[in-house]
Amino acid sequence: MPLDSALGSVEPSSRDPDKSEAGVDTIEEAWRNLSLGGEKSFGKVLSEMAEDSDSLSGEMNTSSLTIKDFAGAENTETGVIGKNEGGGGKAMSVLKPSPSLGINMDTLSEAPIGGQSRTGGSENSSPGNMMEEAWELLARAYVNFKGQRVGALAAINDESGGETLNYNQVFVRDFVPCGLACLMKTDPDVDIVKNFLLKTLHLQGWEKRIDNFTLGEGVMPASFKVGHDPERQKEILQADFGGTAIGRVAPVDSGFWWIILLRSYTKCTHDYSLSELPEVQRGMKLVLNLCLSDGFDTFPTLLCADGCSMIDRRMGMYGYPIEIQALFFFALRCARQMLKPEHDGKELIERIDKRITALSYHIRNYYWLDFTQLNNIYRYKTEEYSHTAVNKFNVIPESIPDWVFEFMPLRGGYFIGNVSPARMDFRWFLVGNCIAILSSLATPAQATAIMDLIEERWEELIGEMPLKVAYPALEGHEWRIVTGCDPKNTRWSYHNGGSWPVLLWLLTAASIKTGRPQIAKRAIELVEQRLAKDGWPEYYDGISGRYVGKQARKHQTWSITGYLVAKLMIENPSNLLLISLEEDKKIAKPKLTRSTSWTC
Ligand code: GLC
Repeated sequence: MPLDSALGSVEPSSRDPDKSEAGVDTIEEAWRNLSLGGEKSFGKVLSEMAEDSDSLSGEMNTSSLTIKDFAGAENTETGVIGKNEGGGGKAMSVLKPSPSLGINMDTLSEAPIGGQSRTGGSENSSPGNMMEEAWELLARAYVNFKGQRVGALAAINDESGGETLNYNQVFVRDFVPCGLACLMKTDPDVDIVKNFLLKTLHLQGWEKRIDNFTLGEGVMPASFKVGHDPERQKEILQADFGGTAIGRVAPVDSGFWWIILLRSYTKCTHDYSLSELPEVQRGMKLVLNLCLSDGFDTFPTLLCADGCSMIDRRMGMYGYPIEIQALFFFALRCARQMLKPEHDGKELIERIDKRITALSYHIRNYYWLDFTQLNNIYRYKTEEYSHTAVNKFNVIPESIPDWVFEFMPLRGGYFIGNVSPARMDFRWFLVGNCIAILSSLATPAQATAIMDLIEERWEELIGEMPLKVAYPALEGHEWRIVTGCDPKNTRWSYHNGGSWPVLLWLLTAASIKTGRPQIAKRAIELVEQRLAKDGWPEYYDGISGRYVGKQARKHQTWSITGYLVAKLMIENPSNLLLISLEEDKKIAKPKLTRSTSWTC
């Protein structure tokens, strides 16, 4: 079918038909199960709903995570690298259970939230009004091409009439929460998502040149906009593949987000005809060919340049940044569900399977940091040759920054920012960690530990306005060297320790998935106190995120849709299934000793 005729509208069929078979007819029932305080955990309820309905291609899914599993006390299958957990285990035994573990909906609505007023914010920003305002603003952001909605502007032009820079474009990554909001609403608005997927696919087919160099066929645009051709008197699309972006770097994340959104669309609509179109199959293969081709790599992670994802300026994220690795893994698993084995598909599927196994092993073992593992690295010997090396990347303990020792709680852990020879970037990045939870790259125990860390380090990572995109900020000499003196990324601003409301949807999804929805509730309440009043800014500045960002756009679309998606999921947790994958039991868990993080 030609792409244009595929742009027609689709009626969403009834969603999650397997629900009643899974023992839960309605989501209210799911919540009721929770508040009965019986054996059934939130994680269990969700996994029951996910069972059988998770796979798009009929793969069996047998996940049944329970809060007990999450707490880790009985979980002997998982752990982290290292052997000296004895002392750490003792330390953990005095810890009280995490505040949010095993909580139910009753306690959720009664519990005081972080000692703060639950009704804060003006009347205008009461949750109901905020939702209405958000939907109205979103409608103003839609972009039309030849009479069809094909995306949403990055920011709605504010009254100030200031420079729009490139915020008048449709960004692929920015459209993801917009597309999810459209799919998750009660009466799903699926056409815009389908149009967006097909339009970006069409742009992928363009020849992409930067100066005299031609980019790989699979590269998806960072953004596009609708222009006007005065000669031909018609609308035209103009796309950016990185050639006009600040760092001239191609967006590695775009192709992954495109595959992930395609899977969400298919999961929501059960319209398999889109993902099965030969053009769509080819688009997926082209994205994956870019990442799976043979090279000089000794790691299964994907080598990339600084600034190739949401953090699209120089921030020391070159090499193997966690955000890209987690998205890569997520996209591989989504593509695995949608790719057809015909023609060369079978061979590609085999390559995907191998990469999924290798990648999950690598990330789960070498990127994981918790109290025990930090102590192991601190005691590392260096200059170890051969296969028996414990310190595989020759990390010099003196390179561990002082802040990590303070930051690392006894309970909790996270995937660090980057791992490469003699280099561990210990910074916390929210997107990579949440995507690791949603894609089940993190083991259930690791996912729990990540949520523990967020709770234990609430002031640092959430503060007054959710959420820090990266922590901590680079300052002084380090900032000069690593960012190249970037005046937009000064300490505690923008990508360098700034707070981004859009990330609320990722935190919410991760909290629901790990059975800790009250973490999301607490963050949503903070957002509801200020975001609408402040005009839905793009980001906030300051150590605790108190100030509207120095150069933040107002009415930033993904700040609006991030809030909508968070609300749509917390009100109806089954929406999580559109953006989450259950654990693949075929992937081996790390055969390592247990960490203190999950011995409490
Ligand atoms: C900035 C952000 C990028 C986002 C774009 C549009 O460049 O760094 O992540 O996609 O704005 O909102």
